[in-house]
Amino acid sequence: MRSLFHKTIGFCLLGFAVVSCHDKGDPNYQYMPDMYEPVGYEAYGEYEVFENGQEAKLPVEGSVPRGWLPYDYENNPQGYQAAKANLNNPIPYTEENLAEGKALYTIYCAVCHGDKGAGKGILVEREKILGVPSYDDAGRAITEGSVYHVMYYGINNMGSYASQTTIKERWQIDHYVMNLKNKLEGKPEREFEEESEVQTSLLPSRADANLYDDADDVESEQANENNQTETQE
Ligand code: HEC
Repeated sequence: MRSLFHKTIGFCLLGFAVVSCHDKGDPNYQYMPDMYEPVGYEAYGEYEVFENGQEAKLPVEGSVPRGWLPYDYENNPQGYQAAKANLNNPIPYTEENLAEGKALYTIYCAVCHGDKGAGKGILVEREKILGVPSYDDAGRAITEGSVYHVMYYGINNMGSYASQTTIKERWQIDHYVMNLKNKLEGKPEREFEEESEVQTSLLPSRADANLYDDADDVESEQANENNQTETQE
């Protein structure tokens, strides 16, 4: 009886000794792994079966996210000239749009361009940045289209505002910039327009889309046409 008592105590101690060595950080046994390991692919997992080994696919080239519109003018001198000549502000010149534009202009642009648009913002006064033009600079002769274009892409020392502002906000700022230009040139105030019932597209499609297409493209299109006529014959 006594030896049984000792044996029990001995077993218990041994048991404790074994169990106490177990590291709690170690993963435990999995009896039914299917319950823990998903059978499907994890959204951001790495799997060899996929191209680049990644499960999450990149959007197809040319896909357009919701609420976003592609801007047709390219970031090069030709794109700038085309936007300058052809792109017009699609939102009406209302008191409200102008007031919004003024508020946004004060936030984003006035530090450099100044409240009056004369190129004398606080950063210019403190000589932190140079070469900020006045909006009535005759050599630049800015237009609604060119103002939008430089807000979208930036120009030389001026950065792009495409990520901070929405399309509509850029057009509101645009109205305000043209208003400042008018004032600097001493022209009369532009009359406000009525808010139109018809919803206009915020980025009108380019009517002049082929203006600076590569000449090669045009040639190859013509070549295709020729081929077609040949096969028809
Ligand atoms: C960090 C200073 C800075 C800020 C902020 C800034 N600009 Fe400019 N901006 C410049 C400079 C510098 C130039 C001259 C770039 C060049 O060398 O052509 C310029 C040029 C321009 C031009 C003339 C471009 C042309 O067609 O020749 C316009 C229009 C303009 N900015 C509008 C804006 C608007 C609108 C905003 C606010 C959304 C803004 N800028 C914010 C520095 C700034």
